[in-house]
Amino acid sequence: MNIIVTGGAGFIGSNFIFHMLGKYPEYRIVCLDCLTYAGNLSTLQSVMDNPNFRFVKENITDREAVCRLFEGEHPDIVVNFAAETHVDRSIEAPEVFLDTNIKGTAVLMDACRKYGISRYHQVSTDEVYGDLPLDRPDLFFTEETPIHTSSPYSSSKAGADLLAAAYYRTYGLPVTISRCSNNYGPYQFPEKLIPLMIANALNDKPLPVYGKGENVRDWLYVEDHCKAIDLIIHKGCIGEVYNIGGHNEMRNIDIVKIICRELERPESLITYIADRKGHDMRYAIDPAKIHRELGWLPETKFADGIKKTVKWYLEHREWWEDIISGEYREYYKRMYSN
Ligand code: NAD
Ligand code: TYD
Repeated sequence: MNIIVTGGAGFIGSNFIFHMLGKYPEYRIVCLDCLTYAGNLSTLQSVMDNPNFRFVKENITDREAVCRLFEGEHPDIVVNFAAETHVDRSIEAPEVFLDTNIKGTAVLMDACRKYGISRYHQVSTDEVYGDLPLDRPDLFFTEETPIHTSSPYSSSKAGADLLAAAYYRTYGLPVTISRCSNNYGPYQFPEKLIPLMIANALNDKPLPVYGKGENVRDWLYVEDHCKAIDLIIHKGCIGEVYNIGGHNEMRNIDIVKIICRELERPESLITYIADRKGHDMRYAIDPAKIHRELGWLPETKFADGIKKTVKWYLEHREWWEDIISGEYREYYKRMYSN
């Protein structure tokens, strides 16, 4: 099996590559990533020498480069993680979100049509469903919940989902889509809530909580997400959407307090700041379909996952300190200087 994984130098994509190379030593995995600020080659260092792994630095919006890669690699499966992913950046500058998340998805699917694949999997997000009110804990996102986005990020992801569904219906492209809740775990870029709070706490810097910190997210350990995608690409039905989530809803402020406790830092570091524009209140996934049809269940409890995550950031200070200091750019030049 030959799999192209786009965005594999980022958080979830890299964890997926480690999972796949570990579980299927006979598979060939080609990572296609253009290394934006969120992509880090150092993340993939442990697999660079694996003869079944290849890294290719290209942009998914570059039609010629993508076609060249497909022509050379003859992938059976394409899993598209590549995206601009940070809501705050999408509020500041939406355009690159439209380019990568929508146009990039179309370019990849066009290459899939041209060269033929057995599966194109689009990695999407629960954010395409918009948000739920805090006073209706009985409500969850199902695969039938209408798309109703809030941010340029979620709108661009929804656009990609709609395109993927259209390529399935119009061209018969064998597409699956997964919509997952918030992930946490190793190698997450320290601009997202959990790694940002860990890094700041370790540096005794203020912990910036938006609004009152009452917004709720449904947190899933990244390995559980990777296992769900593994199941979908092997056993999922083409044309279908699968929601992925762990029924683990938590308020932001409670997460930040847990991190303070784990790192033995005072809660006085918590600083309430202006709320995010259009801030979604609550995300909550109903994962009944993927459980019923593919037998998936989350394995890591939040209490264990957050301990593992904090430990990982403590033990991999260099990884995130390089990113924070911008030193990473120099690393890339050193790595590719010859
Ligand atoms: P990330 O920001 O950590 O990584 C994104 C990766 O994509 C980076 O390596 C980056 O270099 C690469 N990339 C960006 N633009 C590219 C382009 N034009 N061409 C090639 N590569 C490009 O993202 P993540 O958190 O790992 O998310 C991966 C996917 O999962 C995204 O599609 C995201 O929407 C989805 N998702 C994320 C979460 C979450 O909690 N992080 C939850 C649900 C779904
Ligand atoms: P984030 O990790 O950006 O994920 P998303 O917005 O995609 O859910 O943010 C998670 C939650 O944490 C969200 O409600 C915004 C909030 N947040 C803060 O309060 N402070 C911060 O510095 C960040 C980055 C996020």
